[in-house]
Amino acid sequence: MNVMFILLLFLATVFEFLQSSNVVAKTPIPPLSGDATELPSTNLTLQYVAVGRGTQNYTCASSGSLPVQQGAVATLFDATWLAYHDESTLNAIPPRAVYIPFLPYRFDVTLPFIVLGHHFFDSIGTPTFDLYSVNKTLYGRKTSDIKAPAAANKGPAGTGAVDWLQLTAKPGYESNGVSLAYRVVTAGGEPFNCTIAGIMIVQYAAEYWFYD
Ligand SMILES: *[C@@H]1O[C@H](CO)[C@@H](O)[C@H](O)[C@H]1NC(C)=O
Ligand SMILES: *[C@@H]1O[C@H](CO)[C@@H](O)[C@H](O)[C@H]1NC(C)=O
Ligand SMILES: *[C@@H]1O[C@H](CO)[C@@H](O)[C@H](O)[C@H]1NC(C)=O
Ligand SMILES: *[C@@H]1O[C@H](CO)[C@@H](O)[C@H](O)[C@H]1NC(C)=O
Repeated sequence: MNVMFILLLFLATVFEFLQSSNVVAKTPIPPLSGDATELPSTNLTLQYVAVGRGTQNYTCASSGSLPVQQGAVATLFDATWLAYHDESTLNAIPPRAVYIPFLPYRFDVTLPFIVLGHHFFDSIGTPTFDLYSVNKTLYGRKTSDIKAPAAANKGPAGTGAVDWLQLTAKPGYESNGVSLAYRVVTAGGEPFNCTIAGIMIVQYAAEYWFYD
């Protein structure tokens, strides 16, 4: 056999594999069941899936006051391929990623994922998803909120996993290419009880599923 023939055979095999894997890879669906309730499903088109790793920030007015959410900061790692091909491995990542040290916006090189973008709150508390690597943005508002499952990972602080959410595009803001997101499979992020006045920073990780 000559080299060209072997090359063609190889390419044919690769092509066939890609064809069959395209057929097999059905659009994945995020887990929507928290404790007892379920987030509303969507019939919009799945665009991206990300693993978010960062912090949930709270403020305490004084000892014994209720912690108030002040914002959140996270790097969003592109996990779309994994969601399509091995969702159970994807679901195992947030409970592990929450234990990996996090430096805001400088975390980009320590996981084998491409950075999709960043998550933060704007100056008036709008949860923002800047998917800068694909030039898409969601300015969110919460449209559904359920407790994480009781078995969810409590995170390194041991405080518990933040709620699972559905967010949709906030009216009056120019979201672009994303109109709905879920935050699910959360790990960590719940606040401590306030013991002093000040800012409280709690490590968390989660999956974010983006639709349009
Ligand atoms: C999509 O979902 C919305 C509500 O979430 C519903 O009003 C609409 O009929 C659905 N469309 C299709 C094609 O199923
Ligand atoms: C939240 O905490 C992070 C540290 O993880 C900090 O970089 C960020 O500025 C804080 N954001 C807000 C809104 O407090
Ligand atoms: C990014 O998206 C916006 C809104 O659709 C568009 O106006 C802009 O030209 C895009 N930028 C690039 C670099 O593609
Ligand atoms: C906060 O205080 C409540 C009531 O005292 C207690 O049940 C809860 O476990 C505390 N939470 C944390 C994270 O310590």
